[in-house]
Amino acid sequence: MGRTVKLTVNGQEVSREVEPRLLLVHFIREDLNLTGTHIGCDTTSCGACTINMDGKAVKSCTIFAVQADGRSIETIEGMAQNGLHPLQEGFWEKHGLQCGYCTPGMIMCANAFLKENPQPTEEEIRWAISGNLCRCTGYVKIVEAIQYAANKIQAQAAQPSETKEVVA
Ligand code: FES
Ligand code: FES
Repeated sequence: MGRTVKLTVNGQEVSREVEPRLLLVHFIREDLNLTGTHIGCDTTSCGACTINMDGKAVKSCTIFAVQADGRSIETIEGMAQNGLHPLQEGFWEKHGLQCGYCTPGMIMCANAFLKENPQPTEEEIRWAISGNLCRCTGYVKIVEAIQYAANKIQAQAAQPSETKEVVA
């Protein structure tokens, strides 16, 4: 017997009937076709499935879709709304990925983290992503990418708001 879930996904209202046993990661990938959220393990250890739910980083393989009822979730597809997000830019500029399999989870983990800690130290970044595994990079470039994004977000926040055009 299905249950109806209503939630916001990347700013859009979504309503679907789901099996109560359906994991959120399968709902995101198969029902919503948002395949940027990856699956890398069946032991809750890799973090490839990380999304943001009500602003917090969540491993979407660890909860059921019905638990997201009434919540707001953001996936990697929601990040590049107006050009690349500073985190995406950081991973590009600092070569924070090789195969890219871990990257969406890393970015969503970092996205929630930087909202809580906008000016992190290297050590704090390493702690923040300690639940996300990368088999390729050795993490140094990922940490640099997140630091890049933190600096860019700070710089953007410090900019004066756009000067309004004065019509004579
Ligand atoms: Fe590995 Fe979710 S798929 S932690
Ligand atoms: Fe390949 Fe991280 S870039 S697993």
